Amino acid sequence: MTALTLSTAGAATLRADAIVVGVAKGAKGPVLAPGAEAVDKAFDGKLASVLETLGASGAEGEVTKLPVLSGLKAPVLLAVGLGPVPEKDATYGAEPLRRAAGVAARALSGVKKAAFALPVEASEDVEAIAEGALLGAYAFTAYQGGEKKGDGPKQPLGEVALLGAKPRDKAHKAAAERAIALTEEVNRARDLVNTPPNDLTPESFAAVATAAGKENGIKVQVLDEKALAKGGYGGILGVGQGSANPPRLVRLAYTHPDAEKTLALVGKGITYDSGGISLKPAGHNETMKCDMSGAAAVFAAVVTAARLGLAVNVTGWLALAENMPSGTATRPGDVLRMYSGKTVEVLNTDAEGRLVLADALTRASEENPDAIVDVATLTGAMVLALGNRTFGIMANDEAFRTSIHEIAEEAGEASWPMPLPADLRKGMDSPTADIANMGERMGGGLVAGLFLKEFVGEGITWAHLDIAGPAFHEGAPYGYTPKGGTGASIRTLVKLAEHTAAGNLG
Ligand code: BES
Ligand code: MN
Ligand code: ZN
Repeated sequence: MTALTLSTAGAATLRADAIVVGVAKGAKGPVLAPGAEAVDKAFDGKLASVLETLGASGAEGEVTKLPVLSGLKAPVLLAVGLGPVPEKDATYGAEPLRRAAGVAARALSGVKKAAFALPVEASEDVEAIAEGALLGAYAFTAYQGGEKKGDGPKQPLGEVALLGAKPRDKAHKAAAERAIALTEEVNRARDLVNTPPNDLTPESFAAVATAAGKENGIKVQVLDEKALAKGGYGGILGVGQGSANPPRLVRLAYTHPDAEKTLALVGKGITYDSGGISLKPAGHNETMKCDMSGAAAVFAAVVTAARLGLAVNVTGWLALAENMPSGTATRPGDVLRMYSGKTVEVLNTDAEGRLVLADALTRASEENPDAIVDVATLTGAMVLALGNRTFGIMANDEAFRTSIHEIAEEAGEASWPMPLPADLRKGMDSPTADIANMGERMGGGLVAGLFLKEFVGEGITWAHLDIAGPAFHEGAPYGYTPKGGTGASIRTLVKLAEHTAAGNLG
């Protein structure tokens, strides 16, 4: 992991391999952001015009690197674009700072130490820059460079020194510590998503959760296939029965003595989704190791809550299974008896996420939490609706749905509220069972949400996050988002836990 320090040193005197400054897009060209003053001095006050000559405009995502000939200890300067200059009296928002820090950190991979001299006014800025830098400095290299040492890919930036942040200021220190805990867990979740499915099975995922639980004072219980059969978890077993890697249900419980509320988080953990007997065609299965991103997000959120010592109880449920076709697999036409007692006719074995989630939602409901949030890479329909960067929020409580949308915005994550139209329920009527696992094709993301709703305990506030779009990024990296697993929704879940601890919800 990349190290982070808050430094009181001046930009001119700190020893580092590179120094990062911010440049914004002004009406008449690039404008240096606050924090760059000492660096500008080393350029005789002409840094903005030097950058302009080099073609910089200050646009978001832009990187300009130049050598430093004198006046600074750092031999290289990196100017990162912040986007438009803020309105008068406004500051740079958290998300532009987070993204710029991420861009800079990515552009400095292979470098040992960099000083970040970006605009810091409040502890929120410290947090945003730290988060962005530590999320940007991520690389998944576990499977590369095997033959010869030194052949491997570049390592992420080794150390980030934040200038302008005050190490003795309580709020600044807390902001940095929060950013470190949160980003370590987001990056661990990314690792889990990126780990190939021949190595990340329900069993090995459960082992990772068990070890992390021990380390962080979280109680962990794992139901294996025998315990699942004994408990009547027909949904999880039905999805997992075609695989040589049997399913698991993991319960993680973080508790705090002063907690007044309990939040239950439920994650879809399909370690590989082949579609099962309703096999996905080529072109639709290469990235399906990402289908456990919901469980990875829930795992990360519970561990982060524990590391931050939040005054709220957070229970995490990881519904882990591998969806494979075989002679023992569930067939289209089979009827499963779910943990709730309801029967489900499986019309399409590729609609498996809702089956494992249903059992976990019923089980989570038994403990009567104050709210349940499930997270899942559930439907391609949600990707069609909202694109690759925005997750959908559905809920049985409009106020809760709105709160989550606002909290996501605060956390710097794109989301959008979606409805659960009652008329779509009849499409899941089954002539044989209580409900079918598929309904109308149109509005498929909402149909899936309506299915889940039936497995939430009476009177329990519930929301469903469909992260199928943003969980896995196939394009070129941008901001602090790498290729592959992104850790989508984790920052939202952690903020939700913080707001719940602070008594801001319900
Ligand atoms: N895991 C997929 C959804 C998905 C699609 C995740 C694209 C990430 C990217 C899910 O299990 C699935 O296959 N859903 C089907 C449901 C359908 C059969 C009702 C879908 O969306 O096509
Ligand atoms: Mn599927
Ligand atoms: Zn799936």
